[in-house]
This record gives sequence, structure tokens and C-alpha cells, in this order.
Amino acid sequence: MTYRIVLTDYEFPDLAPEREVLAEAGLELTACQAKSEDELIAACAGADAVINQYAQLTPRVIRSLDKCRIISRYGIGLNTIDVPTATELGIYIGNVPDGSLEEVSDHAIALMLSVARGLGKFDRAVKSGLWDYTVVKPLYRLRGRTLGLLSFGNIAQRVAIKMAGFGLRIIAHDPYGNPARAKELGVELVDLDTLCRESDFLSVHVPLVAETHHILSTAQFALMKPSAIVVNTARGPVIDEAALVAALQDGRLAGAGLDVFEQEPVAKDHPLLGMDNVVLSSHAAWYSEDSEYEIRTKTARNVVDVMQGRLPTYLANPAVRDLARGPVAAE
Ligand SMILES: NC(=O)c1ccc[n+]([C@@H]2O[C@H](COP(=O)([O-])OP(=O)(O)OC[C@H]3O[C@@H](n4cnc5c(N)ncnc54)[C@H](O)[C@@H]3O)[C@@H](O)[C@H]2O)c1
Repeated sequence: MTYRIVLTDYEFPDLAPEREVLAEAGLELTACQAKSEDELIAACAGADAVINQYAQLTPRVIRSLDKCRIISRYGIGLNTIDVPTATELGIYIGNVPDGSLEEVSDHAIALMLSVARGLGKFDRAVKSGLWDYTVVKPLYRLRGRTLGLLSFGNIAQRVAIKMAGFGLRIIAHDPYGNPARAKELGVELVDLDTLCRESDFLSVHVPLVAETHHILSTAQFALMKPSAIVVNTARGPVIDEAALVAALQDGRLAGAGLDVFEQEPVAKDHPLLGMDNVVLSSHAAWYSEDSEYEIRTKTARNVVDVMQGRLPTYLANPAVRDLARGPVAAE
């Protein structure tokens, strides 16, 4: 039986890891760079499985997948997939929830320390021949300050563990957070307003869902200290970017470290690009050679699982079980 496996879009220089995993199961990959709904519908016609990176799989696109049994997404976030529609149609969704937890937590800390220690400004100053510590004034000692985590999921917990040596008080806001785990890690769970009011560093780790869209906006930035630094390695639209830019321009926030943006790639004339008090990266917090290989092979393996009649190793929509298309494997 030949199955049609379609990759909607990708940013990798080659597809060797995916092809290797699929070939072991006798499967071939059809790779596309589809972006618009119509391109996606044409590219995915007749697909038995779809692999997805950043292209938006809207309800219309998903409804066109009349044979598809699994959508396997690179990485953790599911915001590119309309999960309820896929679930209702009996399509498994696979992801890789454990492929980049170390990288993203390291990256959030790197952004936080870069801004807190003025490294962007120092780097530009020294390279332009300026030897003057006052270019970063004012910086403050970290010890004794408060780190706020917006969510207390897997990545936020790793940030808390790794930052434990810095002598910070750590607080977190997560309505579904585990109080016992928070206590174990010495983290205080608080409401969103308290998190905003008390954080000197606010690191964002919420998934992008309707409830978290613009969870940080003008009202939240107004509560924050003018010396506070915001870090986002989650998803761009969880922050109202226009409100963030205004707060940074007006001095109502001291700085930001951002890996993700409302529009990616970020526009060449975006005001954030001209700001001295922000450090930016290109939605790359997930990346290391190790995590890249792990994510890509595990994404392909989810597809092999389903094509061979098993549940995907990482099933992201367990509610699909009773509805799933095709043979459902024994567990
Ligand atoms: N920049 C990157 O390269 C990159 C890589 C991987 C993941 N991510 C992003 O990081 C996010 C977090 O990953 P994770 O592994 O920690 O996920 P996770 O599922 O372990 O944790 C998410 C947490 O968010 C909490 N949450 C949900 N709604 C909330 C709300 N309204 N307020 C506060 N908390 C809320 C959940 O209870 C959960 O504890 C992902 O969803 C993804 O978007 C980014």
C-alpha cells in the first residue's frame, strides 16, 4: 500500500532526517512550500498524512483532507492547526512536546540576561570603538529581584530550576498550574495582575490559544515596573506588540528580549528593529543541532506510527481516539 505523505512547508536546508525515518517504513515524502489556503488545499490533495511547520491549517484546509489520518507538527505549539476541526474529523494530531525544552528554557534565560546585563548595547558600543560602561546605565543587581513566569508548564519550570542559583524570588501565573510542583520548586503561584506588578523580569511561556491572545497588553504593561524586562519565547500574538512597542518607547518598560513576533519574519521596518533596549532572535529558541534532529525524526515517526496502524507516539488530541479514521491500534 502506497501512502501519500505531504510536508506543507519547512525552513530546513534539506529533509534527510525525515526521509530516512519514512524510508525505513517504505514511505516517501512529497515536500511543498505552501502558504495560502488554496496552495495548501492543492498541495495536500489526497494526502494520507500531513507534516506541518508554520503554514496555517485552517478549518477549510483541514476539511479538504478527506483521507488524511494524521497531521504531525514539528515542535510543541499547535497554533498552526485548527485542533477542534481535526479532532471532529477523526484526524490524529501529533507533535513533539519534549524535543526542545532545554533549548527554549536556555534561550529565555539568555535573552533575559542579555537585556539585564546590557549585552546588546555593549556589543554595539565596543564594536563601534566606544569603551564606556555608562552606555548601559542604569542596570540593576539581579539577586533579590523577582522573576515572573507567565505559565508554569514544562519550559517555565525548567527556567525556574535553572535560575535557582541567581538568588531571585520566583513567581508564576498559571490557572492550571500544579501547586505541589510549584511548592517543590520554591515558586509562588499568583494572579496575572500580581505577576505584572511584582516581576522585574517577566518571561512568557503560555501556548497561543484564544484565551492567551494579547494576554499582555496596555493594561498589563501599565501595571509593570518601569525597570522591568519582558522576554517572549512562546508565540508572538500572546503579546500585543503595538502596546509593547509603545511601553518601550515611553519608558514604561526598560527592555525586552523577543524570539517570536506577531508577524514572522518580522517586517524590515518594524519599530522593534531600531530599539536599543531590545534583543531579538528569529523564532529560533527551539534550535540546537541536537533538538533539530530530535524534532524532525520524531515528527516523521508520528506519521510512521499511524501509517503502520499504531497511535502516534505523541498524540496531542487524545479526544480523537473514538473518532479516528482508519485502523486504531491496540494500546
Ligand atoms: N520559540 C520557540 O522556538 C518555541 C519552541 C517550543 C515551544 N514554544 C512555545 O512555548 C510554549 C510553552 O511550551 P511548554 O512546553 O512549556 O508547554 P506546556 O504545555 O508544558 O505548558 C503550557 C502551560 O501554559 C499554561 N496555560 C494555559 N493557559 C494559560 C493562561 N491563560 N495563563 C497562564 N498559563 C496558561 C498551561 O496550564 C501549561 O502549564 C508552547 O506552547 C510554544 O508555543 C516556542
